[in-house]
Amino acid sequence: MQIKSAQFIVSNTEVEKCPSEKRPEFAFIGRSNVGKSSLINALCNQKKIAKTSSRPGKTQLINHFLINEQWYLVDLPGYGYAKVSKVQKKKFQSYIESYFRKRTQLLLTFVLLDIRHPAQPIDLEFIAWLGRHEIPFYLVFTKADKLSSNAIDSNVVAYQKVLKKDWEEIPLCFVTSATKKLGLKSITESIGDLLIDFAAAK
Ligand code: GTP
Ligand code: MG
Repeated sequence: MQIKSAQFIVSNTEVEKCPSEKRPEFAFIGRSNVGKSSLINALCNQKKIAKTSSRPGKTQLINHFLINEQWYLVDLPGYGYAKVSKVQKKKFQSYIESYFRKRTQLLLTFVLLDIRHPAQPIDLEFIAWLGRHEIPFYLVFTKADKLSSNAIDSNVVAYQKVLKKDWEEIPLCFVTSATKKLGLKSITESIGDLLIDFAAAK
């Protein structure tokens, strides 16, 4: 599957106002600054379709991008951004949670993790929350351009070892760099496979 066209459609805080037609969608979630918006830009082969920033907390809304006029990529705000107020954090949390609970057209979520860091409690908690709510997800390690290939391999293995304590099966893991455009094809291929399964199940 190739991304041939990408179009920004709408930004929302309320899941009820997100696009109502039942096109399949794929969401990108993870800590603030992990590289969600950058990865969406790289996948769409556009520099600025999703807004990025070196300051954490850039994406504050649920953003829908229509791909190939058929399905959506969804850029979500990051969790774990220390500098927003408690009230703001609660607000974010509640609309992100309702997005995941209510969006029945969500086929799969990509949980982004910075390849440079060992497993962080906030990510493990979020992954456990997805598990409890039976929301399917894959893991995407970002910023691979910052490490040597040996360090990438050992960090992925170390992460999977942590997950094995709680999970019988480890989800698919992708290693990416938005800057160097690494690992993008395997993500679009996995989306293509899921879209084929979705069409077949209809
Ligand atoms: P929020 O919207 O704040 O939650 O952040 P985000 O997860 O969308 O991150 P964003 O894409 O805005 O990127 C955050 C910072 O990381 C920016 O300075 C990006 O340039 C940088 N960045 C993102 N992806 C990569 C990557 O693959 N390699 C490198 N070296 N930097 C990256
Ligand atoms: Mg963002």
